[in-house]
Amino acid sequence: MSPRHFLDLHEHSAEEIKHIVSVGHGVKKNRSLHANALAGKTLAMIFEKPSLRTRVSFDVGMNQLGGHAIMLTGSEIQLKSDTSIPDAARALSRYVNLIMFRTHDHGYLTGLAEHATIPVINGLTNDTHPCQVLADIMAYEEHRGSLTGKTVAWTGDGRDNVCTSWIHAAMHYQFKFKIAAPKGHQPTTEIIAMAHEKGAFIEVTDDPASAVKDADCVLTDTWVSMGQEAESITRREIFTPYQVNAALMAQAKKDAVFMHCLPAYRGLEVTSDVIDGPQSIVWDAAENRLHAQKAVMLWCMGVI
Ligand code: CP
Ligand code: NVA
Repeated sequence: MSPRHFLDLHEHSAEEIKHIVSVGHGVKKNRSLHANALAGKTLAMIFEKPSLRTRVSFDVGMNQLGGHAIMLTGSEIQLKSDTSIPDAARALSRYVNLIMFRTHDHGYLTGLAEHATIPVINGLTNDTHPCQVLADIMAYEEHRGSLTGKTVAWTGDGRDNVCTSWIHAAMHYQFKFKIAAPKGHQPTTEIIAMAHEKGAFIEVTDDPASAVKDADCVLTDTWVSMGQEAESITRREIFTPYQVNAALMAQAKKDAVFMHCLPAYRGLEVTSDVIDGPQSIVWDAAENRLHAQKAVMLWCMGVI
């Protein structure tokens, strides 16, 4: 039987994603649920980029499920080129039970999954960040109920990994996803076409006010993702009109919530009054990384 990888939201059925999210809510309500489900199991976490939330929540989550996590960096394990990926996958599969991988090139992730005989989880690539979006969905549902029929707005980089995973989520949850991004930084026509074909409702504009108008949920992320540091100055100029501030939030519904995956750069993509204000649910979404990840690991290991 092939391993149960968790690589991207759109590769799963809506039922599967909703099941994982519902188990996430369950383990949040009852922290001792599945307390020993992964006893004796080991998770290898491989990071080729920095992390606070993903690293800590996977480690703590694995411990709460009775298992153990080990932290590796790409350079320590000599993950130098894509030719070393299959061998790393084969060797790790003999030692551990589950791998979480944060890497630059999405092809490294799929290559690892292809050659591993144990489940592989996407801990972020340049292209996508599915675990983050599971946590965001949980936070939205806790505060406002079902996403069905709601309007979610994104403003900033339309090719950001979190934005792309939200596009994938729109294929499973019947919400309208309005994305405001400058030309050249909008989602590709291929991904929008694929999303529409799979039932998503997505609108792309270069006007943040029109994307946010009457939205139930406003999202953004850093304008300079990990690996894009050399372009910081130009990207900050290009994205300045896309900042989430009080004036932009005023375009959304009065009870709209704000989320950001973190780390956030106050005064750039979001102002302090918004991220630290009453509409922000970023800390609940950050906490939910722990619960969502526990659900993902339980699913990968065939417990749920
Ligand atoms: N949101 C998120 O993935 O944070 P880290 O980069 O700190 O893991
Ligand atoms: N888009 C950001 C997300 C960080 C969690 C990055 O890739 O750096």
